[in-house]
Amino acid sequence: MRILSGVQSSGRLHIGNYYGALRQFVQLQDEGEAYFFIANLHALTTVRDPKQAEELTREAAVAYLSLGLDPKKAVLFRQSDVKEVLELNWILGTVVPHAHLERAHSYKDKVAKGISPDFGLFAYPVLMAADILLYSADAVPVGRDQIQHIEFARDWAVKFNVTYVPGYDPQDPEGKEKGHAPGILKLPTARIQESTAVVPGVDGQKMSKSYGNTIELFGDEKEIKKRIMSVKTDSTPVEAPKPTENAPLYDLLKVMLPESRFKEVDASWRAGGKGYGDYKKLLLEAFHETFGPARQRRQELLSDPAELERILQDGAERARAEASRLMQRVRRAVGIP
Ligand code: ADP
Ligand code: TRP
Repeated sequence: MRILSGVQSSGRLHIGNYYGALRQFVQLQDEGEAYFFIANLHALTTVRDPKQAEELTREAAVAYLSLGLDPKKAVLFRQSDVKEVLELNWILGTVVPHAHLERAHSYKDKVAKGISPDFGLFAYPVLMAADILLYSADAVPVGRDQIQHIEFARDWAVKFNVTYVPGYDPQDPEGKEKGHAPGILKLPTARIQESTAVVPGVDGQKMSKSYGNTIELFGDEKEIKKRIMSVKTDSTPVEAPKPTENAPLYDLLKVMLPESRFKEVDASWRAGGKGYGDYKKLLLEAFHETFGPARQRRQELLSDPAELERILQDGAERARAEASRLMQRVRRAVGIP
């Protein structure tokens, strides 16, 4: 089974990203042939500063590697290093109904927020479908907000196959029955990450870089401490039992602590006798215990840019081998030499 996913390098990673997405991705490298890439072409729809675009791409790659992605097991690469994706993007675009793109949630949400849409934002789902179809991915782990994009990729793969593969029957996409031909583009399936619920930010809303309420995975140590000490709490006195509803500190401890330790914390939280300050210290300790090793590895990787580049080049080469095989078939099918 081939698993593929990408992250947009559009901001610094926070613990919501880790528990909601990255952790599962890293685990998947043991389940199949995994392809992970940094969607730096997609990021250009929001990041307009070239230095920042480069830095965020590097940061994302370093983050994956520090958090446990093993380049010997998984193929890790930059989206922009495999130019074939742009060719497939165009060819696929010729079978994409305009109406689909007009009803894309991601696009509609951004327009509703007052962002004036450019072609890149409008065409975003086509490039994403090309990302997936280029590598004949079977399973695509994503968050709920991305389901529609995977459905589009399936629809357009079918449309391409129906148009260009003689004998293709959408009822039999693998061409198992006599007289049927398998499609050139494989139909992917979304693998939804039922994440550890929504990780709350320090203010109790969903943790998100757009709300400025994050605890960054690789932030400066002092800043992390400040953030954790600022997690919103109420005025329950030290001796009293603490409420577990609308309590971001409680929820953060639940996400971060190993189950057995959380059980103890849960009991003391409900019994009373400890102040919120004590729990914040505990959260800070848990943060360093959990992410300390990754933070250390990140420093090492950042201090050796040549090694990082070597890993990414190696990933790109492996990805390109796969991409060029598929593109040969696609070109032949549509009549491009
Ligand atoms: P942000 O909201 O900070 O902009 P993104 O939208 O870039 O984050 O999310 C990247 C990934 O991290 C997605 O798969 C998303 O589901 C996950 N994620 C982001 N924030 C959280 C959160 N607070 N809790 C759980 N998962 C999250
Ligand atoms: N759109 C995805 C996101 O914002 C990132 C992405 C780009 C992606 N191409 C992909 C995810 C292909 C999975 C497969 O999270």
